[in-house]
Amino acid sequence: IGAGLAVILCGYLAGSIPTALWLGKALRGIDIREHGSGNAGATNAVRVLGWKAGIFVLIIDMGKGLLATTVLWRIAIQLGGSQSSQIQPVVWQITAGCAAVFGHIFSLFARFRGGKGVGTAAGLFLGLAPWQTALSLLVFAMIVWRTRIVSLGSMIGALSLPVALLVTKYGLGRPIPGITLAFAGALVLIILYTHRANLKRLVQGEEKTIV
Ligand code: G3P
Repeated sequence: IGAGLAVILCGYLAGSIPTALWLGKALRGIDIREHGSGNAGATNAVRVLGWKAGIFVLIIDMGKGLLATTVLWRIAIQLGGSQSSQIQPVVWQITAGCAAVFGHIFSLFARFRGGKGVGTAAGLFLGLAPWQTALSLLVFAMIVWRTRIVSLGSMIGALSLPVALLVTKYGLGRPIPGITLAFAGALVLIILYTHRANLKRLVQGEEKTIV
């Protein structure tokens, strides 16, 4: 089927696993999208199903992204039937990661109504640029710790990643390919878009806290 298609398909299918939705059904027999913020993600899983369930969702959702940019793209290339390729590994990694985030947001197994893409995006960037991502996760954690508002942490944490990558690109540490930087910028826009209802609530001072 060709390596490109295989990478996209594998990334999309892995990303599509609707962890919060399935866990809500398994634990309580509910559709998590009808409760709390209505999002099928880790934050809403904490709200609706409790801390342990939320942490489980976070680990699996991050795992989907991490898997896509570390091992899945290699397996997919083999499956697609291409042994040697002129394309740089980072291009395959980003293709798989992008497909995974897309799958998480427009999940095949959740009638295309998945989550907001933060956990999966964080996981895939842990595979691409671990130190910079760790820094963004720290920004995220500090904001959530101070405000208890996860959406705010998600958006500012996402914005901090291209900044961290830029600083690294022009100075410290291992050089970051331009395509990774562009991808981080695109993901910020996607995350702002999936948080549009949160943004509106934040402006109106009505945003939900984590619990
Ligand atoms: O990752 C999603 C988070 O940023 C917001 O979740 O449920 O508060 O809309 P929620």
